[in-house]
Amino acid sequence: MKPIQVGLLGIGTVGSGVFHVLARNQEEIRRRAGRGIEIAMVADLDVARAQSVVGAGVQVVSDARAVIANPEIDIVIELIGGYGIAKQLVLEAIAAGKHVVTANKALLAVHGTEIFKAAAEKGVVVAYEAAVAGGIPIIKALREGLAANQIQWVAGIINGTTNFILSEMRDKGLDFDVVLKEAQRLGYAEADPTFDIEGVDAAHKATIMSAIAFGIPVQFDKAHVEGITKLGAADIRYAEQLGYRIKLLGITKRTDKGVELRVHPALVPAKRLIANVEGAMNAVLVQGDAVGATLYYGKGAGSEPTASAVIADLVDITRLIEADPTHRVPPLAFQNHTLREAGQDLPILPMTEVVTSYYLRLRVADQAGVLAKVTGILAGAGISIDAMLQREADEVGGEGSTQTDLIILTHDTREGTMNDAMAQMQQLPTVLAPITRIRKEELN
Ligand code: HSE
Repeated sequence: MKPIQVGLLGIGTVGSGVFHVLARNQEEIRRRAGRGIEIAMVADLDVARAQSVVGAGVQVVSDARAVIANPEIDIVIELIGGYGIAKQLVLEAIAAGKHVVTANKALLAVHGTEIFKAAAEKGVVVAYEAAVAGGIPIIKALREGLAANQIQWVAGIINGTTNFILSEMRDKGLDFDVVLKEAQRLGYAEADPTFDIEGVDAAHKATIMSAIAFGIPVQFDKAHVEGITKLGAADIRYAEQLGYRIKLLGITKRTDKGVELRVHPALVPAKRLIANVEGAMNAVLVQGDAVGATLYYGKGAGSEPTASAVIADLVDITRLIEADPTHRVPPLAFQNHTLREAGQDLPILPMTEVVTSYYLRLRVADQAGVLAKVTGILAGAGISIDAMLQREADEVGGEGSTQTDLIILTHDTREGTMNDAMAQMQQLPTVLAPITRIRKEELN
């Protein structure tokens, strides 16, 4: 049978990985897919560089639309990124009847509803295993392996850049800014790292997982997004002393009132496996009602790890290319006509309605009665204290210091309640700096 013909839009780090892995493992891939899979055409603005990657045997063009217009092409791989031209090209490829494979989490988290609708109307597949956690087959796991379960929550370390930075901060006792510069020098962080360090990349991925886990549309605009830029070495150290590690988590959780969808730094008990995921690695913990907790670990970025996910999608599409579209796995795990409308019975909850526990650090004057006032405010708000830590002022502020840090761990409370209590504590004249609040997730 004629090999499946693939057109590649953008051949940077991931595209090169796709080309090399397909070439290296072509015989095994053919045996798995039932047909050969060939990159037949590549579009890239840098034609000379692209040609040097794929060799003379593959046609390289600068115009992506020439790939989409080629009637020989069965599957288009979009590796351009972003929501601009990439969105237009994906929609044009779908309109031309091509199946699409993309690693573009931003595109799907923001425009997924429109894209999946267009694909359903045309009877083509939009596959996106590489969009979440790179080489980890988490889409496959959530959509197929766990199909028996009512998913209760998903919590993941789904951004390698920030996990690398947090690991370095902990190992070396350094502050965020210092480690970011080092990460950029080593190539772990982009020259413009905003999407990673502000939590946006992780929120794109969490948004996609929330849709698959709960049968709701992608709703990135309702996600709570908070990055790691305000974390200090002191918080990482205090967390450690209390038996916790700080990780940037993407969390989506089903509750009686709706779905939580949030990205923020969180204290995680150091004894949990996921707390020990270090460096640029990713891990996703999924809690299902039947299976319990399952954990998926691996490389969330990089040329061949991401190519591994892209090629798995190529194999899936190849196996079912002749099948009736209703026999394929639905893109968001639930059959399209059973997906909930946005806001309908399972709305994304505002952050004020999220219930979790907290780490608070208050820089306070080391005077009589300060602790009583702080705990009085918490008691008045009905917030129960789980643990406390206070170091001698000399240790915190140096010899003769009159200030110290008060560290409080709370039990679960509503975020809105905590906001009110924090506002009251911040008004105390003996609270000398903005209060640091980090959420705490037991993940049990
Ligand atoms: N920039 C991402 C990360 C990889 O650092 O994990 C691509 O999503």
